[in-house]
Amino acid sequence: MKKNILVTGGAGFIGSNFVNYWAENHPQDNIIVLDALTYAGNLDNLAYLQDKPNFSFIHGDICHRTLVDNILEKENITTIAHFAAESHVDRSILNPNAFIQTNVIGTFTLLESFRHHWQVQNQPPEYRFLHVSTDEVYGSLEMEAPAFTETTPYAPNSPYSASKAGSDHLARAYYHTYNLPTIITNCSNNYGAYHFPEKLIPLMCINILLGKPLPIYGDGQNIRDWLYVKDHCTALDAVLHKGKTGETYNVGGNNEVKNLDLVKLICQIMDEIEPNLPIKPSSQLITFVKDRAGHDRRYAINSSKLQKELNWQPSATLETGLRETLQWYVNNRQWWQPLLSENYQNYYQQVYEE
Ligand code: NAD
Ligand code: DAU
Repeated sequence: MKKNILVTGGAGFIGSNFVNYWAENHPQDNIIVLDALTYAGNLDNLAYLQDKPNFSFIHGDICHRTLVDNILEKENITTIAHFAAESHVDRSILNPNAFIQTNVIGTFTLLESFRHHWQVQNQPPEYRFLHVSTDEVYGSLEMEAPAFTETTPYAPNSPYSASKAGSDHLARAYYHTYNLPTIITNCSNNYGAYHFPEKLIPLMCINILLGKPLPIYGDGQNIRDWLYVKDHCTALDAVLHKGKTGETYNVGGNNEVKNLDLVKLICQIMDEIEPNLPIKPSSQLITFVKDRAGHDRRYAINSSKLQKELNWQPSATLETGLRETLQWYVNNRQWWQPLLSENYQNYYQQVYEE
């Protein structure tokens, strides 16, 4: 059945990858992106779709109830894929306000508006509210502990993850209380094209291209579980088409790596694929800096429920996904150079130099 799908945060990293994926794989559906274009939102991420008749972009805030009500009604929205969020842990440490506003109040506003819309339409069974969340809500794992499952208790440790946990609880409560067809996904660290330069992988890649230091927090032994963003998109597709309402699905690529090892691998690949680096070998640029406050030691995600029940498998290995991603940054300087703006430099100075 044809969907009219509202993608919130569709100009951000994962949202834009999802929109590009969806337009290619489900050309019959209408895609409406709602995005406030914060520092992390970028219309260039959607450049290939601008002229497509079944794509439209609305510049606006998910906290604006009247705006959201009007979009749901006018566009006859059947599905919400909710990505819009403040997403960077370091920024949540500097200034948590925006995280509470967008992640908690924004999600609440969308849920309320969608509940009203779904009820006015007589509760169509095919409607869906997909709430895209993170593994960070589960907190930090001990080294030998088993990976997070869907029943791991929530223990968020940063203002970012606490705000995402709050939004997950709201999405869950709307299913239990009102029967609203919500589904939650909790995903591990993504990487790929269109990733804003402040996050670990693009930051290291861009700094290597510029011959700048590669700042590793603390001892570099923290572990993250990396997933190629294209595999996240296929997982969300499976969840939207086959997932059960009221359920949570963990999404991950089974790629646990220590930060220092990951950065060394990035250096090695960059040395191979870019002959004209300012400093070679680029691993000379590795620099240990002050640790992130409350830095979670380890994340690892068990996605066997998604694999068994919805028949999903990631297709990229860390090596193949990373090579594709780093090559994309090498080829697309015109995409990332303008993002290293004065605002970005101020942020960089606050986190790394003050
Ligand atoms: P991002 O920061 O790259 O993009 C967020 C997008 O949301 C931006 O386009 C921004 O303009 C928009 N936005 C922010 N506030 C808004 C508001 N009030 N109204 C409308 N739009 C607003 O984030 P991302 O990395 O693409 O993450 C997308 C979602 O996936 C988030 O919910 C995040 O918690 C979740 N997630 C991210 C990762 C990851 O590794 N990046 C992993 C798991 C889950
Ligand atoms: O786990 C999912 C989460 O992954 C998402 O919910 C978040 O939206 C996303 O930003 C990401 O959070 P992290 O904090 O894990 O990602 P980040 O890229 O900021 O950092 C990854 C690891 O690298 C983390 O242990 C901190 C470390 N790091 C990061 C930066 C930016 C450094 O050592 N140096 C750095 O300069």
